[in-house]
Amino acid sequence: MAHLAQTLATIHQEATIIPHDSAFQQCISPACGATCGIDEVRVACPKCGDLLDVAYDWNRLPVPRSLAAFEAKWARRNDRHCFSGVWRFHELLPFAPLNQCVSIGEGQTLLLPSDGVAKYVGLQPGRLLLQYEGMNPSGSFKDNGMSAAFTHARMIGATRAACASTGNTSASLALYCSVTKLMKAVIFVGSGKIAYGKLSQALDFGALTMQIAGDFDDAMARVQEVSQQLGIYLVNSVNPFRLEGQKTIMFRVLEGLGWEVPDWIVVPGGNLGNSSAFGKAFAELRQLGLIGRVPRMAVINASGANTLYALVEGRGLRWNQGAPHLAAAEAYFAEMDAHQRRASTIASAIEINRPVNLHKCLRALEVTGGVVREVSDQEILDAKAQVGAGGLGCEPASAASVAGAKLLVSQGVIGRDERVVCVLTGHQLKDPNATVAYHTTDQELFNKVLGSRGVRRAAFANRAVAVPNNLDEIIRAIHLYS
Ligand code: F0G
Repeated sequence: MAHLAQTLATIHQEATIIPHDSAFQQCISPACGATCGIDEVRVACPKCGDLLDVAYDWNRLPVPRSLAAFEAKWARRNDRHCFSGVWRFHELLPFAPLNQCVSIGEGQTLLLPSDGVAKYVGLQPGRLLLQYEGMNPSGSFKDNGMSAAFTHARMIGATRAACASTGNTSASLALYCSVTKLMKAVIFVGSGKIAYGKLSQALDFGALTMQIAGDFDDAMARVQEVSQQLGIYLVNSVNPFRLEGQKTIMFRVLEGLGWEVPDWIVVPGGNLGNSSAFGKAFAELRQLGLIGRVPRMAVINASGANTLYALVEGRGLRWNQGAPHLAAAEAYFAEMDAHQRRASTIASAIEINRPVNLHKCLRALEVTGGVVREVSDQEILDAKAQVGAGGLGCEPASAASVAGAKLLVSQGVIGRDERVVCVLTGHQLKDPNATVAYHTTDQELFNKVLGSRGVRRAAFANRAVAVPNNLDEIIRAIHLYS
C-alpha cells in the first residue's frame, strides 16, 4: 500500500507538468494523418476535413504500469482531482496539467449487477451489469466529456460555449457554465424535440436557449455555422477533447470489475461519441499493455433513427483499416434527403439522422469486433420498465442498450454465460412523460405519446390505482392489489 501510494505521488507530481508537445491533435484518416497543436480550436482536420483525435506521445508521459495503481487515489478523495471519476485517470488523458483540469464532481457512477434484468435479457445470473451514468451532476454521461471540454476551453481562454443537443449535452453545458462561471452557454435545440427534464435543466441553469424550428440535425448544422462565425467554443462531440473525458466511462467499468475485461459492452448509439470514445479507450489501453484483450462492443440504434445500423449491417460499411467506402454513406444520406426521411423515436436523446462521429465509430467497431443492432420503441420501453423494476431507472435512449442485449442473446451473438455491461446513459427523471405514458391507465395519453410511435402495449406497466378519498375504500384496495 505504501509502495502504491508512493508510485502514485510520483505520477501525480509528474502529471502536473506535461512535456511540451506530448499531446497533440491528429486527423483520424491514416492517409492524411495531419497534426496540429492542442492549443488550436478545431472540430475537423484542417487538411482533409475528417474528424480529429487527441493523440499522445506515450513514451514521454508517465503512465502507470498497471491499472490497479489508480486505486491509490481512492484514499485521497478530498483532492477533487482524485474524487473526480474522470481526472482520477488523468494519466490516460494527459492533454492538460492536472492543476488546470476542470471538475464539478463528475464520474461518481456505479456498476451494478442486476439479475432481474439479466433474466429479462436471457443471461445467466450475475452476468449482466448496468453501468449507471445517471448519478453524474447533470444526470447523464455527458458530464464526463464536459469536464474535459471545459479544461480545453479554459486552456485556450474561451468565454462562450455552444452546442446543439437532444437535451443532455445542453443540460451538461449549462450546468458547467453555471457552476464554474468560466463561460456563457448558448444552446441550440430542436423545438419540441427534447424531453422536459432536460429543457428544464437548461433553463434553470441560465443558458441562452435557442429553440430552432427543426430537429437535432438542423440544430447541429446551425450551431457549427454560428460558432465558426462568432468564434464560440463548440462542445459537441466533434470536439475531440470531449471524447477524451468519455473514455473514462470504460476505465470505471474496468475498475468496477477489479480490472477484468468484460465480454461485451452494449451502448446506445446516437451521435456516436460514446462508442467512438470507448473504442479509443480500449485501443490505447491495449497499446499501453494495461489490458490483455479488448471487449466486443454492440452499438444499438433506435429503429426510427437507424443510420449506423443501415450503413454497417445493411450496406456493409466498414472502417476497412482506415479506408472506409464513404461513398456508401454519402449515397445513403442523399436518399434520406431525397425521400425527406427524418429520424423519429420515443428515445429522443438518440433521434439523430446524421451521426457526426460516424467515421470514428466505424474505427471503434473494427477495434472491438463490434456489431450494430436496431430496436423498436416498443422494445426500448419494455426494456426501460424492466430496468426500472430491476433497481435502477433510466431514460428511454439508455434502455436501448438492454433491449439490444436481449436481441443479441436471442440471436446467439451474445452467449448466455458471457459477461455483459449495458451502459445506462441517462437518469430516469430526464423524461418522465415517456415513463408515465407507459404506466398510465389513460388510453388517450398512451395513444398520444406512445401509440403514435408504434407502441401497442405496455406489458410491464405498473398502473396506479384510483381510489376515493375514503379510508375503508383505500384499505380494501390495498388488500385487493397487494
Ligand atoms: N443516451 C443518452 C441519454 C444521450 O443523451 C445520448 C446523446 C446518447 C445516449 C447517444 O450518445 O451521441 O454518444 O452516441 N445525446 C446527445 C445530446 C446527442 O445532445 O445530448 P452518443
